[in-house]
Amino acid sequence: MENPNGTGAKVLTNAEVEARVEVILAGLSLSEKVGQLTQVGGTTFIEGPKPEDVIRRGGAGSVLWLNDTQKFNALQRIAVEESPSGIPLLFALDVIHGYRTIFPVPLAMAASWDPTVPERAQAVAAKEARAAGLHWTFGPMLDIARDARWGRIVEGAGEDPHLGAAMAAAQVRGFQGDRLGAPDRVVACAKHFAGYGASDGGRDYDPVYLPEGLLRNVYFPPFHAAVEAGVGTFMSAYMDLNDVPASGNRWLLRDVLRGEWGFKGFVVSDALAVGNLVTQGFARDRRDAAFRALSAGLDMDMASNTYPEHLEELVDSGALSVELIDDAVRAILAVKVRMGLFEQPYADEGLLEQVVASPEHRTAARLAAQRSMVLLRNEGALLPLDKGIKNLAVIGTLANSKSATEGSWMVFGHIPAAVTVLEGIRAKLPDATITYAPGPEIEREFPSMFDILMPDPNKPAPQTPEQAEVAFQQAVDTARGADLVVMVLGEHANMSGEAASRASLDLPGRQEELLKAVVALGKPVVLVLLNGRPLSITWAAENVPAIVEAWEPGTEGGHAVADILFGDVNPGGKLPVTFPRKGSHAPLYYARNLTHSPEGSRAYNPRYWDGLPTPLYPFGFGLSYTTFEIANVSVSTARMKVGETLTVTADVTNTGRVAGDEVVQLYIHQRAGSDTRPMRELKGFERVTLQPGETRTVTFQLGPSALRYWSTSRGAWVQDAAEFDIWVGSDSLATLHAEFRVES
Ligand code: NOJ
Repeated sequence: MENPNGTGAKVLTNAEVEARVEVILAGLSLSEKVGQLTQVGGTTFIEGPKPEDVIRRGGAGSVLWLNDTQKFNALQRIAVEESPSGIPLLFALDVIHGYRTIFPVPLAMAASWDPTVPERAQAVAAKEARAAGLHWTFGPMLDIARDARWGRIVEGAGEDPHLGAAMAAAQVRGFQGDRLGAPDRVVACAKHFAGYGASDGGRDYDPVYLPEGLLRNVYFPPFHAAVEAGVGTFMSAYMDLNDVPASGNRWLLRDVLRGEWGFKGFVVSDALAVGNLVTQGFARDRRDAAFRALSAGLDMDMASNTYPEHLEELVDSGALSVELIDDAVRAILAVKVRMGLFEQPYADEGLLEQVVASPEHRTAARLAAQRSMVLLRNEGALLPLDKGIKNLAVIGTLANSKSATEGSWMVFGHIPAAVTVLEGIRAKLPDATITYAPGPEIEREFPSMFDILMPDPNKPAPQTPEQAEVAFQQAVDTARGADLVVMVLGEHANMSGEAASRASLDLPGRQEELLKAVVALGKPVVLVLLNGRPLSITWAAENVPAIVEAWEPGTEGGHAVADILFGDVNPGGKLPVTFPRKGSHAPLYYARNLTHSPEGSRAYNPRYWDGLPTPLYPFGFGLSYTTFEIANVSVSTARMKVGETLTVTADVTNTGRVAGDEVVQLYIHQRAGSDTRPMRELKGFERVTLQPGETRTVTFQLGPSALRYWSTSRGAWVQDAAEFDIWVGSDSLATLHAEFRVES
């Protein structure tokens, strides 16, 4: 098999990798070892010595925040030809949902409920990134997020551990291929370990308190799945976890990750996180921070400069053993050896443009966007629209925003090139009259971190209230002149993502007001949402006949939206997160525990006296242009022993008139046992395509790995002898029921 970049070198066995690593390690001074544990920033917004100088003296093992093939090669040349050890650098960047060809954001890809979607997407992303000279991506992001206010919900697979684990493994396979060092692939990084999505109030970086049971049963499974899929690296999270910051948390990094799961790769901190152990009031000073992070199992310091400042002295003074340093260096060198960097450290500067020109990349991005979209409402079968329509208005500032279409993480010099929704509709209906009005601009109240660090020199000045009013009236007038209106509303890309948490989940700015004014015109209105988190579109859910959740759909997003609106594609995505009616209902998720008051009793309902906290749209929900019936649920046995496996089957039939996709979902509930268990837990799903009238039998297995859990009362993994409910259906409110009993 060929090595990356076609050097023809053979694939090394584990023993060969280890032997090579030992030879390299034996030739390194302590200061060069510490260099390997140091990642430096390649951009200007990081203070400190110039990366060239650090690399020349062997002070860096990896570079991040650089996105320039020629510069990669220039720095690599310094590392290989001028530094004392000649060890090549690993170039890393956040390639989260595409490098040049942008795919839907990860939350959207999870909405496909089809792991082949993120797997293919990340394979394309890896190929482009590798061609650009990158070796390592800071993804996949595997944080479970049950609080839609948390901005980074956009980067993960939503609220569920089972769906999250499937998407995690798929992304690792996509980025890395079948092994580390596979051609045209990059090293993946499972982040942010662990619990980051559960910050108090959904406020980014705030402390997290999660009991061990919740960590193990809900927050860990995607990370464990990534280890099982062979992920090469992990990133520690920023925040404080149960009073021990994740970047200094020995239990997480040594006991669980390496001890229990057998992870053999290396762990990088999140950016500046080692130094931040001081800010967090955990480490006394930076020396103590370096000591505690390395001792806890954190191998590489991302840009905080704490390791290079203190590790050598810590070893020299006897505080840290050189064996600990050596172990960390070994893990990093092994990745470099496997990636073939010693054979081929340089990037081919002409390759990227060839690779991105591949039409298959665009096709894959369009398919991924189509499969990610969720039809939330379709009263009177308004959708799909007739392609013969002559006069259509498209309204909303997001409708023609390339950056909103591509979504989060398009920083570090990326130039958005997405097909917008307006462009997609125009391309679909070349002969129709399509008028467009953006309406008022929408803005964050406080600027985004990225807008501050990397300001866009072409960003127009904010609208004045008077200008916004004019834009509002123009939008209403434009809608008035059309036979049908497509409103494209939601959030700009910088409104979700890192440091982009919100207190409200409402449509920001005057968007809902505009929506109401347009609906009041009495025309048919279709609402297309572009957003990176659940939005509480409670008014729209009752008053707008058709709603399509398009998320942040990527480069081909506008085409994919048009494909869905005009019926070339039948939507089949399902929500990977609960949509709350209000931001103040967050965190809201389906897998909660029962209370002492029976579900549905008068005393139980409503939980708040000022509004129903039931979901606006439940987890797993999504409509289609056809209808499905799920029936005949059956279990292979009504009783089995602990440790045995049973089979659940159900029939799904397309009862409508067009072909379509249904995601058949299996939920369980353990009625009683060592601990209380969630009222429902997803344990299986399958997305099937059915022709009209076609029936398929879907099969799920329920064995010990699905039925066991970490018991708080027993402090151990248990599989209880217990009675279980099963529901099979098309969302988390499924009613088709069966039951079984597990006996000891
Ligand atoms: C901070 C973010 O939390 C992390 O996700 C990212 O990978 C690093 N910065 C590097 O950009």
